[in-house]
Amino acid sequence: MTESKPVAVCCPTTAHHSEAQALATQLGLDFYPSAATELPGEVALALLCDAQGWALQPTGCKAPGAVRVDFAGGAVDHRRRFGGGKGQMIAKAVGLKAGVYPRVLDATAGLGRDAFVLASLGCQVELFERSPVVATLLADGLARAYAEGDSELRGIVARMTLHAQDARSALADWTQPWRPDVVYLDPMFPERQKSAQVKKEMALFHDLVGRDDDAGDLLAPALALAHYRVVVKRPRKAPFLAGVEPGYQLAGKTSRYDIYPLKALPAGLNAETRSATPD
Ligand SMILES: C[S@@+](CC[C@H](N)C(=O)[O-])C[C@H]1O[C@@H](n2cnc3c(N)ncnc32)[C@H](O)[C@@H]1O
Repeated sequence: MTESKPVAVCCPTTAHHSEAQALATQLGLDFYPSAATELPGEVALALLCDAQGWALQPTGCKAPGAVRVDFAGGAVDHRRRFGGGKGQMIAKAVGLKAGVYPRVLDATAGLGRDAFVLASLGCQVELFERSPVVATLLADGLARAYAEGDSELRGIVARMTLHAQDARSALADWTQPWRPDVVYLDPMFPERQKSAQVKKEMALFHDLVGRDDDAGDLLAPALALAHYRVVVKRPRKAPFLAGVEPGYQLAGKTSRYDIYPLKALPAGLNAETRSATPD
């Protein structure tokens, strides 16, 4: 992983200066009490704090370029309402169906969209994100959804627990009293020639976290830890993660899910049955 472009924290609103400054200190980033457009030229990305929470914004651009995690609106909310429910490929990939609600460890949480889909369908999801900047955006989105959302949204984000840490060591040196039913991996894939077509948000993400060149290191510990299966999301034509062939695949137009089954998911798997039979 490389946080390849210089990032600084900025905050144009006085009311949020101390919060922003504290985070800058915690992350070891420079702090500017100004708008993203006023930062020095060498700062390429601004972690912006304002009345709406935290956002990531390329400098020199106006607000539309900013990325923030919003579970209450936009594409994420639209997908929750009209996205196809348990019929979605990601649901099938993790083995979710009526009566079967696996506990998923999302080892590459990013902006939490996949995890949110799974949590909105009833899964308990543990999210791991190692980029402190991305984890800041995600934590902010979860907190806002919980504070401002309706009871349904609050119920969903209550099933999402964020761990701002590298999943490689967490998986390898597992210390929790429970094990995940499914480990889900969606590492960054090296940017390709057609990157002009990558959405602005995705391009910004590439700038921030670079390429997850060590993603292959996650597969073996994931297979050792998961109870029932490991699922890897890949671009449709990408090679297998770590060169390991999956048991089967589900392929869509642009991406596919490689499924590494370990054991069949039992009927009636949910939070209650799980606690009746702890690890
Ligand atoms: C492609 S994004 C994931 C997108 C996510 N599935 C979503 O729906 O928003 C990959 C993310 O995984 C994170 N990541 C990669 N390797 C990781 C690791 N070993 N531990 C924790 N996070 C990791 C990167 O920092 C990046 O934010």
